[in-house]
Amino acid sequence: MKVLAIMGGPRKGYGTMIMEKLEYELKLLQEVEFEYLYLKDVHLESCRGCSNCFFKGEDKCPVGNDDRDEIFNKIAQADGVIFMAPAYAFHVPALMKNFFDRFSYIFHRPCFFGKIAIGVCNQGISGAKKITSYFNDVASSWGFKFVHRLELRTMPVEGAEKKMVKKIKKTGKKFIKALNEQRYQKPSLGSVIAFKVRKVQHNIGNDETNADYKYWLAQGWLDEDKQYYYDVRPGIIKSAIAGLLNLILKPKFKTMFAGNPKEVYDKYLKLESLNFENIT
Ligand SMILES: Cc1cc2nc3c(=O)[nH]c(=O)nc-3n(C[C@H](O)[C@H](O)[C@H](O)COP(=O)(O)O)c2cc1C
Repeated sequence: MKVLAIMGGPRKGYGTMIMEKLEYELKLLQEVEFEYLYLKDVHLESCRGCSNCFFKGEDKCPVGNDDRDEIFNKIAQADGVIFMAPAYAFHVPALMKNFFDRFSYIFHRPCFFGKIAIGVCNQGISGAKKITSYFNDVASSWGFKFVHRLELRTMPVEGAEKKMVKKIKKTGKKFIKALNEQRYQKPSLGSVIAFKVRKVQHNIGNDETNADYKYWLAQGWLDEDKQYYYDVRPGIIKSAIAGLLNLILKPKFKTMFAGNPKEVYDKYLKLESLNFENIT
């Protein structure tokens, strides 16, 4: 079993101490291959906001030669991923945010189904809940089954370590259990809606030059009978609600792509979609 810990802090500090304890606890439970990926030690340039990755493909990212693809491969090879960061200014440190920005195309083209994720945040006093909830949002959107959040306070309070170890042990058990169970979860209403809405959008756009469309088509996700990213029955109620929403949104997508969808996207990329000149 391979576990990858993605470390989002700018130093090897309390976060490292906590992660090393979690690694120790995991290894007591099961043989795991444990790897650390310190974002501070890799070469990951800042996202430039061009949106090429969304529309043209991640290979068209203008940043070029950095460690993005190597990092992707590390995640792809792992059975489980731990997203870890300290709370900085009530959120993740810039390193971690840039990591998510650079991999934003995965929100459009999720690919980590069958993998387990957990989120860990060490904080002084507050902010960690929002951060682990953010890890949940990102990981779930990328396809992971997100199973657990661990938030720890590192302020020097007597007896703090004992409480922390108790929580770390619990996290270890939950993570190992999830890694050994069925890794494809029953989808939430939100993710069924997200799947169906995007499916309708791509089917109406039908733009063979668009990276998302090509990916969705290649995955077989645009097939009429496809209910979700993988074979699972979402349930009648969720499907019905998502179907209803689609009926409402279909005319909007049709208007959006009334012309040539490629022209619509190109205009958007060139910052020509908005024009306030004639609006008083
Ligand atoms: C620049 C900076 C900003 C911080 N902002 C917060 C914050 O918003 N909330 C909080 O609870 N702790 C905050 N802290 C405290 C750290 O989250 C806490 O000490 C953490 O355990 C440090 O982890 P590290 O040793 O792995 O870097 C901040 C620390 C730094 C250096």
